[in-house]
Amino acid sequence: MQAPPPNIALFQLIAGKWVAQAISVVARFRVADHLAAGPKTAAELAAITNTNAGHLYRILRAVATVGVLEEQPGQRFALTPVGEYLRSGVPGSMRAVATYCCDPWSWKPWGDLAETVRTGTPAFDRMFGMGAFDYLSRHPDEFATFNEGMTGFSGIESAAAVKVYDFSRYGTIADVGGGHGLLLTTILKAAPNSRGVVFDLPEVVAGAVPTIETAGLAGRCTTQGGSFFETAPAADLHVMKHIIHDWNDEKATQILKCCRRAVRPGGKLVLVEMVIAPGGDPAAKLLDLEMMVLCDGKERTEAEYATLLAGAGYRLTRVVPTESPACVIEAEPV
Ligand SMILES: C[S@@+](CC[C@H](N)C(=O)[O-])C[C@H]1O[C@@H](n2cnc3c(N)ncnc32)[C@H](O)[C@@H]1O
Repeated sequence: MQAPPPNIALFQLIAGKWVAQAISVVARFRVADHLAAGPKTAAELAAITNTNAGHLYRILRAVATVGVLEEQPGQRFALTPVGEYLRSGVPGSMRAVATYCCDPWSWKPWGDLAETVRTGTPAFDRMFGMGAFDYLSRHPDEFATFNEGMTGFSGIESAAAVKVYDFSRYGTIADVGGGHGLLLTTILKAAPNSRGVVFDLPEVVAGAVPTIETAGLAGRCTTQGGSFFETAPAADLHVMKHIIHDWNDEKATQILKCCRRAVRPGGKLVLVEMVIAPGGDPAAKLLDLEMMVLCDGKERTEAEYATLLAGAGYRLTRVVPTESPACVIEAEPV
């Protein structure tokens, strides 16, 4: 297909706003789950989802133009390979991600991006009068969708991390800010002699128990509720995936210092994060903006990670790329 003229190419980028919201509606009404057994008409889907048939058809038709669904004759729709990932419960599901990214708490602050750039302060705090995680703690339904989304991302990244890093040399591994525990259970399956603890806010870590039990790891893995600004479990390895990027340098240092105090002799630290590289993966540079708007966090370069870690008593020892956009960043106490 011929490339569009530059002004149309630009317009197609701007229309990303419409695409994201339309996909989120498909996700919210679990359309992909209803299509899992085979194609259905817009009218059938509207009846199942209790939505307006005409409006739902227009959403499905639009989403089909970007490859998430296939439109067939008679206003009938089928899942494409991309759309399969809008199903719930499939490994790597993006259903909850599509939903939470367009939930008001996550969507509205983006309308204030220009002010964020002007002032250098996150839109979220200005708009909601508190930090994003304080807000989520007070809104359990939205937090549940967010945590489900994190687990969706985590499937790909956790499998990729254990392929490139040998976790089996650590006796006790603490996943700090470990959410619903998918990373740690993936690690413990690859490290059969290690034990683990998932550490997160009390209301979140409760959600890790089913993951641990389903993985058959209840004998080797526990959970602990608390704040990583105050404490971290004693461990030979502290792992943090997509934690440090949520916070500015001052707060990130506070978290790292808690791990540093709790690391056992000979122990280490592993961060699983995207690393900004010149000309590198655009995902890191775009996720960086989400951090800017929502939580005053940032994606960092390797040099920025080295400086941050040094300020908390660690030396960055290596950065190992994975087949996912995230890298394994290893550091040792100094
Ligand atoms: C971006 S999510 C990453 C979750 C998980 N590591 C993953 O990659 O799927 C950030 C996590 O930090 C947790 N968190 C936020 N504030 C916290 C705090 N003060 N103490 C402990 N955990 C916290 C959240 O509950 C959430 O699980």
